[in-house]
Amino acid sequence: TRIEKAGYKHFMAKEIAEQPAVLADALRHYVENSGGVNPALRLPEGLDFTQIDRLTMVACGTASYACHVAKYWFESLAGLPCDIDVASEFRYREPPLSARSWALFVSQSGETADTLAALRYAKDKVAKIVAVVNVSTSSIAREADLALPILAGIEVGVASTKAFTCQLAVLALLALKAGQDRGRLTAAQVQAHLADFALLPGLMNHALGLAGEIESLSDQLAEAQDVLFLGRGPMYPLALEGALKLKEISYIHAEGYASGELKHGPIALIDNRVPVIVLAPRDHLFEKTVSNMQEVMARHGKVLLLSDAAGVAEAGAGCWQALTLPQVPDLLAPILYAIPAQLLAYHTAIAKGTDVDQPRNLAKSVTVE
Ligand code: G6P
Repeated sequence: TRIEKAGYKHFMAKEIAEQPAVLADALRHYVENSGGVNPALRLPEGLDFTQIDRLTMVACGTASYACHVAKYWFESLAGLPCDIDVASEFRYREPPLSARSWALFVSQSGETADTLAALRYAKDKVAKIVAVVNVSTSSIAREADLALPILAGIEVGVASTKAFTCQLAVLALLALKAGQDRGRLTAAQVQAHLADFALLPGLMNHALGLAGEIESLSDQLAEAQDVLFLGRGPMYPLALEGALKLKEISYIHAEGYASGELKHGPIALIDNRVPVIVLAPRDHLFEKTVSNMQEVMARHGKVLLLSDAAGVAEAGAGCWQALTLPQVPDLLAPILYAIPAQLLAYHTAIAKGTDVDQPRNLAKSVTVE
């Protein structure tokens, strides 16, 4: 099948826009009665999380940031300790692996050389090799004991977008399963989370509606030399992903930081030319992140706040810009906030005139070491 841009200027724009639909596909696949009454997880046999006391996650690039978000979920929802490493480090680190653990590999292509080598290293050392992949016929899918498709559809743009949010969705559902198996979540709590999930495609559509506002501030972002992304909790790995997206396609130097680490280094970079993008839904960590944001403002940093209406009302004053997202259940915030992060990268790259779908020096799938 030939994949077309279907009226979009770039594959990346098309793939960003497809997210509500492909995420709904993934939900229909993994959730019985998704959107209906009494939704229930429908995961394949062989995922009994009482069998393990540790989960090791390995991936590269954007997929590795999906793992970082998932660590917060597995630990908080299921009390399951997680290790994470990028595949290129993991494979040579000689990490001791326990027979009471699973190793989980996340890869859009399923062909990334380092991730595949890491999988082969883990084989026979862990109880099970699980893969979360987009390409079900890929090497990683075939060599895993259990492969879970993310159902994002073919992704052409080099910078991963819809694969990331579908990876997050599948990992969140796994974390719910883990919480249920390990007695940390009641059946009613799992159901409540699944009911929240059913709202996600609609919330994502709403977030896509920010494109116009984002486009109009992208000219100014395009002038920046450096951009910082800040987040706390599961929004921290999202800050890493936002920075990766921006640098990949606009070639602007961008870094993601845990908000609380700001004072341990990056605050030295702040002046009135450095945009600081703060990812902060109005959750229990909001006040902490806002106080970090105020440290930036006190040094004349240009803050772009991404929050919900309550967060923007509370802390938007004095920011350079604020974007209002819909209110979202905590678990789903990283999935929703990925969209404005992608749109910021996309529109900034357009403003700079770079090749969005084929950024220089990058490959969609890195099949060499
Ligand atoms: C390349 C791509 C990224 C991707 C990474 C991992 O760097 O440009 O978008 O996140 O590889 O790829 P994978 O196929 O293993 O997810």
